[in-house]
Amino acid sequence: SLRHARHASSLKLNSVGAEDIAYFSKILPPTSIISSLSSTPAAADELDQFNSDWIGRFKGHSTTVLKPKTTQEVSQIVKWCNDRKIGICPQGGNTGLVGGSVPVKDEVIVNLANMNKVRSFDPISGILVADAGCILQNLTDYVAPHHHIMPIDLGAKGSCQIGGNVSTNAGGLRLLRYGSLHGTVLGLEVVLPDGTVLDQLTTLRKDNTGYDIKQLFIGAEGTLGIVTGVSILTPPAPQASSNVILALPTFKNVLPLYQTVKRELSEILSAFEFIDRTAYDLAVKHGQGRALTEEEIDGAECFVLVETSGGRREHDEEKLNGLLENLLTADEPLINTGFVSLWALREGVTEAVSKEGKAYKYDISIPLSTFEDVVNSTREHLRSKGLLHEKAVKAVLGYGHVGDGNLHLNIVADAFLPEIQDALEPYIYEVVQSLRGSVSAEHGIGAMKTHALPYSKSQVSIGLMKKIKDVFDPNGIMNPGKVLE
Ligand code: FAD
Ligand code: MLT
Ligand code: ZN
Repeated sequence: SLRHARHASSLKLNSVGAEDIAYFSKILPPTSIISSLSSTPAAADELDQFNSDWIGRFKGHSTTVLKPKTTQEVSQIVKWCNDRKIGICPQGGNTGLVGGSVPVKDEVIVNLANMNKVRSFDPISGILVADAGCILQNLTDYVAPHHHIMPIDLGAKGSCQIGGNVSTNAGGLRLLRYGSLHGTVLGLEVVLPDGTVLDQLTTLRKDNTGYDIKQLFIGAEGTLGIVTGVSILTPPAPQASSNVILALPTFKNVLPLYQTVKRELSEILSAFEFIDRTAYDLAVKHGQGRALTEEEIDGAECFVLVETSGGRREHDEEKLNGLLENLLTADEPLINTGFVSLWALREGVTEAVSKEGKAYKYDISIPLSTFEDVVNSTREHLRSKGLLHEKAVKAVLGYGHVGDGNLHLNIVADAFLPEIQDALEPYIYEVVQSLRGSVSAEHGIGAMKTHALPYSKSQVSIGLMKKIKDVFDPNGIMNPGKVLE
């Protein structure tokens, strides 16, 4: 029965030793091995980079980082580790926000950065096939001369890799227009936990030949295998694109504004993102984008970024200008002001938060109508615990993807402190559960939320996930301690 399903991650794993380094040295050049155990030991701070996550909250103790260049090399490494029961932590750009890309103990880090070649691009269909270690921005640049764009965009584009995007099923700023990677990824090449190469790198738009196995790896966070190649559909670049930021007197206007904007812009609306006043102030404070004057803001409580993308500039501008005029001249205007803008202000919030302090990041799906309430009640909850002051919690803010029902609730603290953690959890997860939301909308579970999975997933679902994990990875070597406890 599901209750008795044996779970791979409870199995004991071994540490890397001299014999393992000797084998890795046979299959990889010296420059692809960074290890404190090798004959030319790596400096501690070099290893530290790979062991530390982007938010500075999770730390691994790996002695060995391997940077293979080919699928064959990945396969040999994985087979060896499986035979020797050594844990593996797959690592892309290490920009993940839930501690999934660093080891929990001393797993070998298999870093994909050297697998960075485009394999093919068909300008007619727009299908791109690339190594998993290609950086998202580089792929955007690659398809640009063919007048295509990547179907996904996010603030970490300069560092995150397409394999990491696929493995976290990253959402980002274009999901509203182009949908999730479950739709745009057409095929994958994956090294399974026993070293077998699963070649499903198809470039077919349609393929209903039984179970769609590749979907399991999209969002698996490296727990089912190492993604080495990705086939993805890239859309034609829009002929014209514009952004405006709208300043709203009250959060209550976000919902009616969303409805109005959808109705008036219809097919040219490509993003609808929001940042609250605290997020705006932090972004401006840390130099992310142009600040407005006080008159322009006029006491705004929050801001919405609207992007349009379409086929003809005059047509799109006419629509956008019409929208702004209607909004500003209404009897009870939904906005104080609207101005042409860049993405910097919205994209820069993550960076600004990390400059301000230590971030507790809750990436949740909840009904849009509850966004403001959840941010405010979390702040009040922390205040009631006496934790809202400079030496504990400095700011509570909300921003995110309105069009996707995805709120980023961030708590910025002076330091990661147990009393803050205890005040936030299970408090926030219980709120999410009561709203039938998701404890992870787009960042994944990683190491941060394994204990929180039951707030969003039933025991039946979790039982099936454990069974699937055991089918692929009976020795539990692949990213242990992530996703499933
Ligand atoms: P990593 O962080 O290296 O890894 C993430 C997970 O995937 C880990 O569990 C790792 O083991 C696994 N993994 C990585 N590569 C592979 C592979 N080839 N095979 C198997 N497993 C692998 N996320 C969003 O969804 N939307 C956003 O808008 C967004 N914006 C961000 C903005 C900033 C400034 C930052 C720092 C992060 C943001 N993120 C966002 C989170 C993060 O960028 C994404 O999760 C991204 O997809 C991670 O890619 P990566 O290559 O850095 O993966
Ligand atoms: C975003 O939407 O900006 C990203 O998901 C990163 C974050 O949550 O900070
Ligand atoms: Zn996001």
